Amino acid sequence: MKSQKSILPEAPTNGSSDACQQMLERGRRSIAGGDSSTMRVLPYHIPLVADRALGSHVWDVAGREYIDLNMSYGPLLFGHCAPHVIKAVVKQISERGSQLGFPTEITIRAAEKLQQLFPSMELLRFANSGTEACASAVRLARTATGRRKLIMFEGHYHGWSEAVFNRYHAPLSELPAEGFGPAIPGTTGMSSGIDEVIVCQWNDLDALERCLARHGSEVAGVIMEPVMANAGLVLPQEGYLQAVRELTLDHGVLLLFDEVITGLRVAAGGAQERFLVTPDITVVSKAIGGGYPVSAFGASKELMEQIVSGPLFHGGVFSGNAVVMSSTEAVLDAVLADRENIYPALETITARLVGGIDEIMTRHGVPHQAVSCGPLLSIMLTKGEVAPLANYRDVRQHCDFESYIQFQHFMQNAGVYFHPNQFEPMFLSTAHTTDDIDQVLEHVEEGVQTCLVR
Ligand SMILES: Cc1ncc(COP(=O)(O)O)c(C=O)c1O
Repeated sequence: MKSQKSILPEAPTNGSSDACQQMLERGRRSIAGGDSSTMRVLPYHIPLVADRALGSHVWDVAGREYIDLNMSYGPLLFGHCAPHVIKAVVKQISERGSQLGFPTEITIRAAEKLQQLFPSMELLRFANSGTEACASAVRLARTATGRRKLIMFEGHYHGWSEAVFNRYHAPLSELPAEGFGPAIPGTTGMSSGIDEVIVCQWNDLDALERCLARHGSEVAGVIMEPVMANAGLVLPQEGYLQAVRELTLDHGVLLLFDEVITGLRVAAGGAQERFLVTPDITVVSKAIGGGYPVSAFGASKELMEQIVSGPLFHGGVFSGNAVVMSSTEAVLDAVLADRENIYPALETITARLVGGIDEIMTRHGVPHQAVSCGPLLSIMLTKGEVAPLANYRDVRQHCDFESYIQFQHFMQNAGVYFHPNQFEPMFLSTAHTTDDIDQVLEHVEEGVQTCLVR
């Protein structure tokens, strides 16, 4: 569960007679806030309680159909109800069991296949969520180096554990002029673990250099999303990741790539394959599971020795659960068998969407930036024409969040869903068709004219 973004206003809803609204009201009597993730029931969300989904489409409990550009926040690389994933899961649960409580061959097979895509994970461990795997990855960095401090970046999200949950969408006024400074706890009730974290401006090598010069000897690791995807979508500047890799090596600091979003998405082998930079520790999750709750963290044999026979504990009753491993194996099999076709096709469909939206907004004089990396994309409405957004401060300063919400409401009412907070990117899948994209673009044309042309 991520923190609620305080910069955004309360938004109108579809009206209390709506079936989704009524269902949420019922949900609020048993579930705090009506759902188990705050991100799905933000105050400015038009209520959408999902009934079912197939391919690139989702239906709500009132029977309305939407083209889904959210793909469950990223996991569904092959769309909803992907037949090969269903087949593998049904076979597993009907013939072999779902939770065996022993080492299993299917877990070993899934690990072997994941390693083929991420050779930097010479040894890995499966876990159940990005939060868990990031927390373990950070412990691994601390154990291996004997150092305590961690450097993170503004706008980057690594889950809600004690280790890393900082206020990643902090107001500009709270960000240090120096370009780096102490982390701010992301929620109430946290212990002092976060006090060990320094937060630095991303895509700013100078800030990281100064930060490492001051704190380097105490720093265990530098953790980042190699493509920033939790505060709009911002790509690493040319050479930035390579330079960070060199700097961390110079200071004996481990480099951790949180590829929870980018793994299997910006390339089969994630950002480390796309940008040719190898981290010391990798975390993957979302797309590797095909919609089932899985994550993994891994590193060299030498580092992972801390778990094999060293002092670092890692466990989890459900880690390596057989249902989850069967879906993971099905996803990995599909990617390994056809990556040469899957990724170019995803790039093509994404270019059609991003290019189409860019053309419409440009033609109507709506200031925006359209960014994509593989089937991961973001349309950021800006308050005027600005230089390419390079980091969280730029996104926070220049983006027009309120107009985006109005536009999103129009699109949702027209049958296209993406998240109403423009910090959240959109995700496409192999299930999206050119027909889906063309329908989305028709609604974008109407939505831009209705909500954004002034
Ligand atoms: C980059 C990144 N890391 C970690 C997480 C946390 O993953 P989870 O929500 O599965 O705990 C997320 C979730 O969105 C994420 O985007």
